[in-house]
Amino acid sequence: MTFSPASLAVTGGAGFIGSNFIHAFMANNPACRVVNLDSLTYAGNLKNLSALAGNPMYRFVKGDIGDAALVAEILAGEKIDAVVHFAAESHVDRSITGPEIFVRTNVLGSQVLLEESRKHWQSGAVPDFRFFQISTDEVYGSLGDTGYFTEETPLSPNSPYSASKAGADMLVRAYHETYGLPTLNTRCSNNYGPYHFPEKLIPLLIHNIINRKPLPVYGDGRNVRDWLHVLDHAQAIETILKEAVPGSVYNIGGNNEWKNIDIVNLVCDLLDGRLERDPGENRRLITFVKDRPGHDRRYAIDATRLKQDLGWVPSYTFESGISETIDWYLANQEWVNDVTSGSYREYYEIQYGGRQ
Ligand code: NAD
Ligand code: TYD
Repeated sequence: MTFSPASLAVTGGAGFIGSNFIHAFMANNPACRVVNLDSLTYAGNLKNLSALAGNPMYRFVKGDIGDAALVAEILAGEKIDAVVHFAAESHVDRSITGPEIFVRTNVLGSQVLLEESRKHWQSGAVPDFRFFQISTDEVYGSLGDTGYFTEETPLSPNSPYSASKAGADMLVRAYHETYGLPTLNTRCSNNYGPYHFPEKLIPLLIHNIINRKPLPVYGDGRNVRDWLHVLDHAQAIETILKEAVPGSVYNIGGNNEWKNIDIVNLVCDLLDGRLERDPGENRRLITFVKDRPGHDRRYAIDATRLKQDLGWVPSYTFESGISETIDWYLANQEWVNDVTSGSYREYYEIQYGGRQ
């Protein structure tokens, strides 16, 4: 039977995927209330959600997922039917230079959310409940030239980021097995699209090309990532939330593998045209740099289970998705300039007067 939440708590909704999910979900489900709990780290930007200002079905709460009292208050006060948990430290390079916050947020923060969700669900305050852990294919580790990650692939994370996400996935499994908490857990491949923080490869390339800055390519540039448009990810999450059996784990991906250097060349060439530069001009910005330590060689997702069980398939082709994404960044230079300068932080003060 379809699960139809009346009140959803989204964590990390001011980030890249969370904000895209909130827009898509609220458009598809206007009768569902959405409460967004986000601590607004460097990656959280309320401008991503400015279109929702004044919408009575939406509420923003500035706070940490590790704050048990706040989480309990939201779950009970808003009669939350489902928690969709995006909040995380999400950048591999940052996890290499500072792993501690990754453990604090991604492991300990997730445990607090799970524990408060368990209490809320066991209190019988809502007729049915889901805890939805948004995870990553990076928990499976790295592939060689062939093969795919399935849901049965053992977790074998290599970076502090992926280790912290795997830790949370394990806790989600444990809360389902031990307490029967109705959990869902998805592992998605690399996303791209609007509102992507320009420390990640694709928005960084676009930003640097526009500003004629070097394009750092790690190692030999032949590492492979499997790219999915963020709105395809959002649609998959909505489908799984409503239709999947509690306890399920699903991979999400669109069979779209690219070597990094090929993506870099593609974005350079598309922007040559858009920026009316000479053919090949942007490629001259490419700079091979020292490799990321422990750099996973290849990710590739087998999402057969999701297609077979729930009929989800991506709707974007990479060609249309990357073109639209480039156009979005060109049309939203103010957004990019704000996040690179950090001035978006003031937006919270202006919109909320510094209060919760
Ligand atoms: P992001 O870094 O853009 O956003 C993370 C959000 O979480 C930010 O708004 C931040 O303020 C918030 N946050 C961080 N710590 C918090 C805390 N302690 N309490 C409350 N809020 C906190 O990340 P993203 O790329 O949107 O990723 C979202 C989720 O999806 C993550 O769990 C990530 O592991 C997962 N994921 C990402 C990708 C990808 O390609 N970006 C792919 C698969 C899975
Ligand atoms: P990234 O967007 O950081 O995502 P993830 O590491 O989670 O897959 O990086 C995507 C790929 O691009 C990854 O193989 C590392 C590489 N990369 C570069 O070559 N140069 C860069 O400046 C960045 C940020 C990433």
